Amino acid sequence: MNIAVIGTGYVGLVTGTCLAEIGHHVTCMDIDPEKIKTLQSGRSTIYEPGLEELLQNNIENNRLDFTTDYATGLANKGIVYIAVGTPENEDGSANLTFVEAVSKDIAKYAQNDLIVVTKSTVPVGTNHQIQNWIKENLQQDVNIKVASNPEFLREGSAVYDTFNGDRIVIGTDDENTANTLEEINRPFGVPVYRTDVNSAEMIKYASNAFLATKISFINEIANICEKTGANVADVAKGMGMDDRIGSKFLNAGIGFGGSCFPKDTQSLIHIAKEVDYDFEILKGVVEVNHQQKVKLVDQLIERFGSSLEQMKIAVLGLAFKPNTDDMREAASIDVINKLSSYNVNITAYDPIAIDQAKKVIKENVNYTTDIEEALTNADVALIITEWDQVKQLEFNTFKKLMKTPIIFDGRNCYDPKEAEKASVEYHSIGRPS
Ligand code: UGA
Repeated sequence: MNIAVIGTGYVGLVTGTCLAEIGHHVTCMDIDPEKIKTLQSGRSTIYEPGLEELLQNNIENNRLDFTTDYATGLANKGIVYIAVGTPENEDGSANLTFVEAVSKDIAKYAQNDLIVVTKSTVPVGTNHQIQNWIKENLQQDVNIKVASNPEFLREGSAVYDTFNGDRIVIGTDDENTANTLEEINRPFGVPVYRTDVNSAEMIKYASNAFLATKISFINEIANICEKTGANVADVAKGMGMDDRIGSKFLNAGIGFGGSCFPKDTQSLIHIAKEVDYDFEILKGVVEVNHQQKVKLVDQLIERFGSSLEQMKIAVLGLAFKPNTDDMREAASIDVINKLSSYNVNITAYDPIAIDQAKKVIKENVNYTTDIEEALTNADVALIITEWDQVKQLEFNTFKKLMKTPIIFDGRNCYDPKEAEKASVEYHSIGRPS
């Protein structure tokens, strides 16, 4: 099958490359010439394990190419995927400017019948809107069908998830289109679930909102555990043994970040509001997450009072989660912002996210990729991201390097009993010290 993918961000690039890997001929398009040049040379523009290897392999085998030119990109293609960003507007709604522009470009350059597949996360009803945008601007007498095919990929394991996903959702009102898309995806070996367009669009939002709810729920349980003497790790394990609940996404911590959960929860609240529905639970989920992100600073103040002046603080981890350099909505931003009003000295460690961090953190911070340097002479260590390099640290290292071995752990990386044995002062989330 000849396929075009518009947008070479994390969704478009992974989707295009993986479709090439299963044998299709794919042209990825983007308006950014620098990105296209880098990709043409076989280098990945995002940090995603396994991607660069697939990229190079498929370019070499002439199954994958890149262009900024829509006419070339769409020529002789039967399918075009829309994978452009839908960033958050100030009022929380999804910004559809890029989706609209791309739809009109498709209309302008379409020379033959096309199936237009939306990968971008878009509000319910958008695919119908896409169909209208295209129909109103078509230059040739060709047939356009639309389908929603939301992505469920996690950053850092997006390639793995493409081949090992739980489901592929195909939302379209046309049976032949559904058959074609099912055929295209068959080599992935992932179960396909067919539905109508609107429901497919909603499945994406509802899934992310539900996962975000699970996280905020267990975080509130953790907060109550702290006050009642229960242990949230044991509670989560006991809950998760019930199949109806499931054991995943019950790790208490300092909340969710990234480019998806924060944006999609806000967007779903907005979608509900548009139809006069007040999505109260989801508003609570967002608010809990907002407070949870700075919980370590609250713990610090509870422990030391508000006179933190001149304290040397080691911040371990900046990225919103391990194995990515993505800083979008990372807890580290809120933590450093709140800490800076107390006139402290901050040294932040991260193995790969420092360049990205510098773009979004405006406060005065010393950055290092050397974890031991961050800990040297520190009064306290705050754990923000559960990098392996952090989890592998031994309590003796904290004792050896820090002025005082006091740890506030936002990701529950260590066993509190071991900390006690090692005479390290250890505070975590929802577990007795
Ligand atoms: C998320 C979803 O997991 C994907 O299915 C979805 O496709 C993607 O958003 C998207 O909409 O594109 P991602 O943002 O890459 O993927 O990150 P996750 O691995 O899901 O983690 C999200 C956040 O939740 C992280 O900040 C993580 O630290 C936090 N989290 C996760 C917890 O605090 N506790 C948990 O138990 C699990």
